[in-house]
Amino acid sequence: MNKNLRVRIKNVVLKTPLLTSSGTSGSRDEINLMQNRNKILASLGAFVTKGVSINESLGNKEPRIVEVRSGILNSIGLQNKGVRKFFEEDVPELRKYELPVVVNISASSVSEFGELSERILNYNTHSIIKGIEINVSCPNIKKGGAAFGADPLLVEQVVKEVKSKVHDSLCIITKLSPNVTDITQIGKAAINGGTDALSMINTLRGMAIDVHSGMPVLGNQIGGLSGPCIKPVGVYMVFECFRKIPECSRKEIPIVGIGGISNCSDALEYILAGATAVGIGTQWFINNTIFEDIHKDLATYLRKNNETIENLIGKAHGHSFKKNPC
Ligand SMILES: Cc1cc2nc3c(=O)[nH]c(=O)nc-3n(C[C@H](O)[C@H](O)[C@H](O)COP(=O)(O)O)c2cc1C
Repeated sequence: MNKNLRVRIKNVVLKTPLLTSSGTSGSRDEINLMQNRNKILASLGAFVTKGVSINESLGNKEPRIVEVRSGILNSIGLQNKGVRKFFEEDVPELRKYELPVVVNISASSVSEFGELSERILNYNTHSIIKGIEINVSCPNIKKGGAAFGADPLLVEQVVKEVKSKVHDSLCIITKLSPNVTDITQIGKAAINGGTDALSMINTLRGMAIDVHSGMPVLGNQIGGLSGPCIKPVGVYMVFECFRKIPECSRKEIPIVGIGGISNCSDALEYILAGATAVGIGTQWFINNTIFEDIHKDLATYLRKNNETIENLIGKAHGHSFKKNPC
């Protein structure tokens, strides 16, 4: 194990700072079926699953993905098989990854988040699951479908509810939405609720219109933008949270930086902005060696510059330095 790459999120040790980002690497066969499976798994610090809810959800009307300039729009609609089947069918496969697994969760009310977390704790008999990532971008049915993630009070309540069910048995990561005026207020609310870490960003709300038909392209009309075009937004939001939230600046609450990462320099940007680890999503759709590429390049960068990831976290907030590039 390369110690220079090792990081920690609460009590979960990650051998590298690279994570899958929820919804982009499935929860079962996606990596197992790849020819380069072993290299991918050797490069990852943890596996983050597709969003899981209490009951099965069929997701949104098709088309659900459309390519746009420098990214994609998706409106999958949190399609999943429900938590019971997830544990019956997917977790035995995820066990083969031999990685810490983080379950991304979605629900439509505060109490449902609590119930789902309790079920995860009870089903997790082999302790494969090390953490829960709360997706606060999902719609709150009790408030007419507005996302939880835009309301600091609701975010605090959701995190408190999850924490009250799992206590310290699982690491709680709250995944923030960029579709807000001030992400630091939401981050602070999650910390007040007891989160162990923050991750950001989820997709940016967007849409595309077909000029021939004159109609929205996505079946759901509105979707979430991801890929290289959102990276500057993600880096900014990590930077802001690290700067303005004392628990983040003191590295007590680690941040997982997500959004548009395509190579080693992108991952480093997030780390220098304040991220302890990074999630990679959309780019994996077009480059199935992305995890091993970034892993190799990061290791080379650290060796050439006699650095560790731990030491680089948040360095963009201090003095500038000259380093050999990735
Ligand atoms: C097809 C697709 C499905 C996604 N599903 C989820 C999900 O279930 N839960 C979640 O929190 N984020 C989900 N996301 C958001 C990603 O995890 C990630 O935050 C976002 O795509 C930005 O990262 P990227 O630019 O590297 O893809 C999804 C993204 C895509 C593209």
